[in-house]
Amino acid sequence: MSPILTDPPPLAADPSDGVAILEQRGSTAETFGIPLAVLAELTHRCPLQCPYCSNPLELERASSELTTAEWKKVLSELAEIGVLQIHFSGGEPTARKDLVELVQHASDVGLYSNLITSAVLLTRDRLAALAEAGLCHVQISFQGNEPVVADRVAGLKDAHRKKIEVAHWTRELDLPLTVNAVMHRQNLHQLGDIIEMAVELDADRLEVANVQYYGWALKNRAALMPTLQQIEDTTAIVEAAQKRLKGILAIDYVIPDYYALRPKKCMGGWGRQFFNISPTGKVLPCHAAETITGLDFESVRGNHSIAWIWQNSEAFNRYRGTGWMPEPCQSCDYKEIDFGGCRCQAFALTGDAGNTDPACALSPLHEQIFKLAETEASGDTSRFIYRNFSGGTPEPDDAQDA
Ligand code: SF4
Ligand code: FES
Repeated sequence: MSPILTDPPPLAADPSDGVAILEQRGSTAETFGIPLAVLAELTHRCPLQCPYCSNPLELERASSELTTAEWKKVLSELAEIGVLQIHFSGGEPTARKDLVELVQHASDVGLYSNLITSAVLLTRDRLAALAEAGLCHVQISFQGNEPVVADRVAGLKDAHRKKIEVAHWTRELDLPLTVNAVMHRQNLHQLGDIIEMAVELDADRLEVANVQYYGWALKNRAALMPTLQQIEDTTAIVEAAQKRLKGILAIDYVIPDYYALRPKKCMGGWGRQFFNISPTGKVLPCHAAETITGLDFESVRGNHSIAWIWQNSEAFNRYRGTGWMPEPCQSCDYKEIDFGGCRCQAFALTGDAGNTDPACALSPLHEQIFKLAETEASGDTSRFIYRNFSGGTPEPDDAQDA
């Protein structure tokens, strides 16, 4: 059977492209093409141990994180250069004691702020304080629709119950809620129930994101990779729910691109629409960019402004545009549609971030990698390596029977 689930994208520019770039005439943002929204990874500390975490395998310690004053300076600078939205993420951003102060500062400089959280560290009072400080939106990650699977994937007991509690507080405080569900072989059977859970929690939006395989997820690929049948079933469930829940719940859906004909346009193209700032202040073209060895990333602690780093730094320019592309991308009609796929995935699977993403059917490695995924998906590996500061810990033998 063909592994291909999706048709290639139409040969037309994506109309959403323009939305991500601020085009105020004569502004700094126009000069530098600064993205509208930036991800601030405040810390790598996290009480959860998700085996698909997109943080690098080498996590940054608390002692090297940007200070409150440094983050405030970053937020002010972002607002000055035309950024409109800040997504506070991690790790777990609520592990930062100064989160309320940072949200207040974002609000003071006119940034719309979103909190991307596992929720388990929040109390109702702290969430209320965040709302009071100007927090605009909350996005809570769920690992399943009930505690047995969800707590096992998170590697933390009682996590699921806590998340449900915080989701209710979020709506009581009149904050908009997005439910973020990362899906893989060991929880895809719960997708229908997760959709119902999001409706019951009165979420505005549900992100159904299949795991993308680099960093911790690559380490755990054999335990996480779904079967082709699971993906076909999932696609049907999502499409039916999107129709049924129109006007009630918006559902975004990302399929694992191992099972697609063409790769995803990762980050909207390297250095085109997105950057994030790591806990220690590195300005990165994507949240997983540090998994690519041999690239040096400039820091907000250095001598350059963020706008300069975005426009001039070696790391952003290395894979920007199409000039860097090898064949088959260089002479491909889709090169300005998907920008050659994902650099992190190309590095993870081929050892060279400058290769065509093997998720593309035109990559010479595609066949081999798809077969490997198929073999892993039908294999019996289900034990996780949990994400943590000691380089990962194998799931205890008895955990899967919990
Ligand atoms: Fe995209 Fe390159 Fe594949 Fe063409 S060959 S579809 S540009 S990844
Ligand atoms: Fe880094 Fe795709 S995740 S470019």
